[in-house]
Amino acid sequence: MSAAAPDEPLANPLRMQVAEAPVIDHANDPVQSDHQASDPSALALSWLPKSDEDRMLMTVSTIDSEGFPRARTVMLSEFDGEHFFFHTDASSQKAHDISANPRVSLSIVWPGFTRQLVVQGTALIAPPDEVASAYAKRSPYLKQLAWLNTPEYALLPLRERVSGWRDFAATNPTPAQPRAWAGFAVRAHRMLFWVSNPDAASRRIEYRRGEAGWSRQILPG
Ligand SMILES: Cc1cc2nc3c(=O)[nH]c(=O)nc-3n(C[C@H](O)[C@H](O)[C@H](O)COP(=O)(O)O)c2cc1C
Repeated sequence: MSAAAPDEPLANPLRMQVAEAPVIDHANDPVQSDHQASDPSALALSWLPKSDEDRMLMTVSTIDSEGFPRARTVMLSEFDGEHFFFHTDASSQKAHDISANPRVSLSIVWPGFTRQLVVQGTALIAPPDEVASAYAKRSPYLKQLAWLNTPEYALLPLRERVSGWRDFAATNPTPAQPRAWAGFAVRAHRMLFWVSNPDAASRRIEYRRGEAGWSRQILPG
């Protein structure tokens, strides 16, 4: 993972990580080896980028009003050891789905067929200070996107979208947090860690949260 100071924009205006394939030491890996981790939060922290590193992408699935899952890619803004945070527009479909049904699934895949993390959990409204902090770390491009990514703008012809963007960016190089900027904090009740192995089958460890803490079981990949 490449590191960058939290408020320093990267060359990539989207400021998302194209993660390098991790090197898995299968003899000691907590999923592939004979020694499993008891704490899935610590394991997730060891897999995910540190707070000063570029963010990873994840698929967030919600349940729509017709009961169908709806999936889309978002940036995983942060995992603090307890909650997976992502940020979006408060008027988006996903925010609408979550307000009616906070049950969500998250899925994160690492390159090179190495790792996958799947989470089931409940999405809560993220605290205002976390939401503001995540916005502050967004690149200028993503801050401008948070303002201009509206249904009205999307309907404009390309020329007007380009000129409108240019004019907005010229007068708002780093726009303040818009009112519609929203954050969700997903608390996991189930976490599945998948690790491949070129010399054996892939394998998963499933963790379920219960009253007595996390239970775990080994599953085929
Ligand atoms: C690589 C990538 C990263 C994205 N990151 C975000 C994000 O962090 N937040 C967000 O709201 N949408 C993000 N999007 C756009 C979403 O995938 C989606 O199109 C948008 O949020 C509307 O989704 P909805 O209508 O289902 O709510 C991203 C898309 C891609 C392809």
